[in-house]
Amino acid sequence: MNTIGISVNGHAVTASVEPRTHLADFLRDHLNLTGTHLGCEHGVCGSCTLLLDDAPARSCITLAAACDRARVTTIEGLDDDEIAGELRAAFTREHALQCGYCTPGMIVSARDLVLRLDDADERAIRVGLSGNLCRCTGYVGIVRAVRSVIDDRRRRGIAPLPGAAREQLGPVGSTSSAGDGGPPAARPSARAGIEQRPAVTIPDFVPDRILEDHFTLASRPEEVFAMLGDVARVAACLPGVALTGNPTPKHVEGVIRVRLGPISTGFRGAARIERDPATMSGRIVGMGTDHHIRSSTRGEVRYRLLPVDAGTATRVEISVGYSMQGMLAQIAREGLVRGLAARLTAEFARNLERELSGAATGGPTRPAASIDGVALVFDRLRMFVREIFRRT
Ligand code: FES
Ligand code: FES
Repeated sequence: MNTIGISVNGHAVTASVEPRTHLADFLRDHLNLTGTHLGCEHGVCGSCTLLLDDAPARSCITLAAACDRARVTTIEGLDDDEIAGELRAAFTREHALQCGYCTPGMIVSARDLVLRLDDADERAIRVGLSGNLCRCTGYVGIVRAVRSVIDDRRRRGIAPLPGAAREQLGPVGSTSSAGDGGPPAARPSARAGIEQRPAVTIPDFVPDRILEDHFTLASRPEEVFAMLGDVARVAACLPGVALTGNPTPKHVEGVIRVRLGPISTGFRGAARIERDPATMSGRIVGMGTDHHIRSSTRGEVRYRLLPVDAGTATRVEISVGYSMQGMLAQIAREGLVRGLAARLTAEFARNLERELSGAATGGPTRPAASIDGVALVFDRLRMFVREIFRRT
């Protein structure tokens, strides 16, 4: 599985996809954006055309895994687009559709022509739409509709944009504003005023490895549970973690930096938060990706608070499940990860204790320090040498 972070119609989406999943299938099956139609699934008919980093592209021959950091606009994302609106009206007026199967792809391609062409040259329009096949209407009405929109806009003094105002050419995702592998910054939604989908889809998963740990805090369980519900304060207690957006009680996006020897990682991702006050327990399920080292990880943290010392202190039981893919999975031996998790837990517990006692931890806006795995490697080396001496 590959973890990708993309912007779909202005919404940031992080998801785990099979390497073979096409962008069209991902949009239709995972995000329920069924306005992207599939005809030939060979890149011939143009039904699946959408905008990828603002350029028309065939989503049936584009792998979703290759779209990390890309900006995707489907026909649904053009609901409030001015040119698409004029094209829809013109298609209706000129009888440019019958069954409508080709229409979403046709509108996306036609919109690009309306942006670019100097005038309503019929030949240029026919050439421009030659990658979009219509099985039932024929092309006379379609060409007439596109011509009328171009004519009308030029008459109103709206000039063409050379190259459709695309300033950069490059692989998918290269024009994204995200610098380190995360989902691209979402643009202002073109669908303002309509129901918003949840920004990120984070499915459950079965972890490859599970680590368990516990620590005790000198505060009452209710205080600790309330504190764990404050996402920004909790993030401030986690070494190497920085938030990248405004967290909500159920959702958080951020980056975690870890250094393992010469490798410096910056996993950017999102997490879903669940809490149960009745059992004083909670669960955080997240996924992240580091574009530079081509690695991704999924993790699940479960915690449970138990009263100790007649309820004046709290035992925090934690279980961390994770799965890794990519280069980091090759080098991150279980012992190394186990040691790193132990250090992270110990430091987290210390910071929580300080935060609960009112002592400053640096606050939620402090710069994220990275978790240094080098010390960990030396720890393990020391243990290894000690073990050899013990045996001999
Ligand atoms: S379905 Fe993509 S080009 Fe036909
Ligand atoms: S309107 Fe039916 S395929 Fe084009």
